[in-house]
Amino acid sequence: MSKIDPTKLRSYTWFNGKEYYNFSRRANLRSMGFSREIFFGKPVIGICNSFSELNNCNAHLRGLAEAVKRGVWEAGGFPVEFPVISLGEQYMKPTTMLFRNLMAMDVEESIRANPVDAVVLLCGCDKTTPAMLMGAASADVPAIVVTGGPTLSGNYKNTPFGTGTDGRKIFDLHRIGQIGAEELQEIEGCMVRSAGHCTVMGTASTMASMAEALGMTLPQNAAIPAVDSRRAALAEQSGKRAVEMVAEDMRPSKVMTRQAFENAIAVDMAIGGSTNAVVHLLAIAGRLGLDLVLDDFDHVSRRTPFLVNVRPSGEHLMEDFFYAGGLPAVMRELLPLLNRDCITVNGKTVAENVADAPCHNRDVIRAMDAPLHPEGGTVVLRGNLAPDGAVFKQTAASPEFCKHTGPAFVFETYQEMHDTIDSMDLPVDANTVLVMKNGGPKGAPGFPEWGHIPMPKVLLAQGVKDCVRISDARMSGTSFGTVVLHVSPESAIGGPLSIVETGDTITLDVEARELRLHVDDAEIARRLAVRPLPPPAYDRGYGKLFLDHVTQAHLGCDFDFLHAVKPKE
Ligand code: FES
Repeated sequence: MSKIDPTKLRSYTWFNGKEYYNFSRRANLRSMGFSREIFFGKPVIGICNSFSELNNCNAHLRGLAEAVKRGVWEAGGFPVEFPVISLGEQYMKPTTMLFRNLMAMDVEESIRANPVDAVVLLCGCDKTTPAMLMGAASADVPAIVVTGGPTLSGNYKNTPFGTGTDGRKIFDLHRIGQIGAEELQEIEGCMVRSAGHCTVMGTASTMASMAEALGMTLPQNAAIPAVDSRRAALAEQSGKRAVEMVAEDMRPSKVMTRQAFENAIAVDMAIGGSTNAVVHLLAIAGRLGLDLVLDDFDHVSRRTPFLVNVRPSGEHLMEDFFYAGGLPAVMRELLPLLNRDCITVNGKTVAENVADAPCHNRDVIRAMDAPLHPEGGTVVLRGNLAPDGAVFKQTAASPEFCKHTGPAFVFETYQEMHDTIDSMDLPVDANTVLVMKNGGPKGAPGFPEWGHIPMPKVLLAQGVKDCVRISDARMSGTSFGTVVLHVSPESAIGGPLSIVETGDTITLDVEARELRLHVDDAEIARRLAVRPLPPPAYDRGYGKLFLDHVTQAHLGCDFDFLHAVKPKE
């Protein structure tokens, strides 16, 4: 470990000078019971904690913070834990995505304003990991991520259950009367069996994997179950490593390079990651001024096989993924496709970290020559219905619908969809393409996870389990089906989605990467000219700031003034 020169520490100007305010700050540190020797001249390691009891996925992070502190003390640093806003996916209304940028601003400014020489970022639930990475990227103080880990696998009558994914299937059975209220209550207690985030390859597991693939965590961080003792040990080692990173000046901008993002996208494709990763990676890259665009995802997707057999795209759960070898085993398979020399927060390159990583279960982590699918999970669609792009998770879709032409049935709003989807008179059949408008960043507002339009009850009753669904909303990473998302530009700002009418014909052709509305350009222009835009949902406060500055889905939905450079349209 390099020796730290105390006069070079960022915290030095807070605590070590001869002015009154230096004296006063030392006195106030001592007010918390610290002796002078324990902090004076030592690297201050901030533990940026998104713990909250209003965020069940992050509710155990206080315990992990204690493990981090052990590592910091052991390495000769001085740990200080501080809170940031937490975004609980299950509880926040209207959607956590409305607040991701707010949390990222909190993280950035909390780091920048305070006397910390490095930070350990504690996160877990869907938006908390990208928000931490966005804020830390902008602050650019040495940083290492520790996520909270997935829950233990759900289990009901000896059948494993994945949070979200299986919950939706169970609830559909309840909707059509095949599971009664009493049994549903019993299942409720078996679904989420421990602390941690969703135990499928949903957004939280995906973003934990992205943090590891970007090089921002120690190897194996992504998949260790939340309650496995090895997660606390990893947190301890991350605290120790944060102290060393101060001496090495290992900043996020040195780790999260363009090449590191290419690695992360390849890993996202190989794990069948959540479509939300597209939006979050674009936003993080934007904070670093990197030229990452939506089409980069499709280019990488075409050359990257899908390897990880975890729900919702596969069969197993995150616990199985960890026992099979976790992310290092996947990255070892992918090494021929990765930028091997990217540096990671442990000071080693990607290749050094994963070259010998073992795989213990080839059914869970497939070899490159025996993939689950020859291409990656997420693809980018274009066409006159989505001129700036849309995303589609082909590994979670029904193959028979991936090339489909059918008549549209349109819901103008989420509320309209919600109020009518269970009607047994809904005039739809298995060929229908369900279209929902006003679910985008400005329209909903906040870009909620409304895109997984539930299957109409009338179709479920006929045994139809999937159909093509299109919207400008997002979808939970735990969801599945033939669902086109993030249509950009969104309908609320006059994107072509806004003028689709029931009965119009739409083609989805995943192989050709096309999303086409069979209405000619003149008619589209005519409809756009007469269609009024919805009024803004907020006229004050944070909501107005969001509406005034959020970028579209294909640009990452960050605020325009938080990009390191102006985003390319
Ligand atoms: Fe927090 Fe799924 S609800 S990760």
